[in-house]
Amino acid sequence: MAVSATTREKTYRAYMEFFDKAERNRRWHWLDDVPWDKLDTTKNREETAICLETFCGVELYVPDYTANGFNLTREIFGHAWFQANWGYEESKHALVFREYLLRSGLRTLEQYDDYEAKIFAKKWHLPFPTRRRMTCYGALQELATYQIYANQREKYKAEGNDVLHKIFFLVSRDESAHYGFYRRVLQFFFEEDYDGTLADLAHVVYHFRMPGVGLIPEYDDRLKTEGVGITSQQFLSDAVLPMLRKLGTTRPDLVRALRQKRLEEQAQSAAGGAPSGQAA
Ligand SMILES: [Fe+2]
Ligand SMILES: [Fe+2]
Repeated sequence: MAVSATTREKTYRAYMEFFDKAERNRRWHWLDDVPWDKLDTTKNREETAICLETFCGVELYVPDYTANGFNLTREIFGHAWFQANWGYEESKHALVFREYLLRSGLRTLEQYDDYEAKIFAKKWHLPFPTRRRMTCYGALQELATYQIYANQREKYKAEGNDVLHKIFFLVSRDESAHYGFYRRVLQFFFEEDYDGTLADLAHVVYHFRMPGVGLIPEYDDRLKTEGVGITSQQFLSDAVLPMLRKLGTTRPDLVRALRQKRLEEQAQSAAGGAPSGQAA
C-alpha cells in the first residue's frame, strides 16, 4: 500500500516525540538502575522463575521481531527508526530478566543456556503480512504485555521484593511507551481509511495470539502459573476495550466490521477470487 506524504510526516513526528521522551526520561541501565544489593534469595520461588524465564524467552526473539519489522517498515523513516529503538529496548528486557534468574540462583548458567538454545532453535514469523495489521497487532500485544508486567510490578511491590519491583517498573514503562507509539500510528491509519483499518483491527483481534505461543517450551504448562499470561477476558477488558475507546470506536463497530469482512471474503471465495485485505 502506498504511503502518503502526510502519513510519512505524521509518522516522523510521532517517532521524534517517542525518541525524545525515551532519551530524556526513560533510558535505564540494567546494572546501575536496579538495586541489586537488595537481592534477597530467601524470596526465591519457582513461580517467579517460571514467570521470568517465560518473559525472557519471549523477549529473546528480538532478532526475528526486528528483521521482520524492518522489512515491513524500511521505506517509512519514522516507523523503521522506531523499530530500531524498539528492538534495543526489548533486548534490554531479555538481559535484565536473564540477570535476575542467574544472580538470584533461580537458574544456573547451564540451565539458562539450555533454555536459550531451545528458544533460538525456533523462529518467530510474522503473524500478519501487512504493516497496518502488524500495527494493530503491535498495539494490542504491547498493551497486553504492559498489563502482565504491571501486575508483576504491583505483586512484587506488595511482597517487598525491591529488585523485581524496580525491574518490572522499568520494563512496564517501556511497554507502555511502545503501545503509545503503535496506537498513534494506528490512529493515522484510521484517519486515512477508517473502514479498512477497522476491518483489519477486527481481523487481528479475532486471530490474536501472544508471541510466545508455539515457540516457548511447555508454554501451555507455563500459563498455569499465575502471572505468566492474561486470560481472554482480561485481554478484552484490559487491552481491546481501552484501546478501542482511545481510538474513538466501539466493540459493536468492531464486531460489525468483522462480520462485513467475513461476508466479503465468502463472496470473493465463492466467485473464485482472493480474499480482500491480504495486501492492505
Ligand atoms: Fe519487552
Ligand atoms: Fe514492548
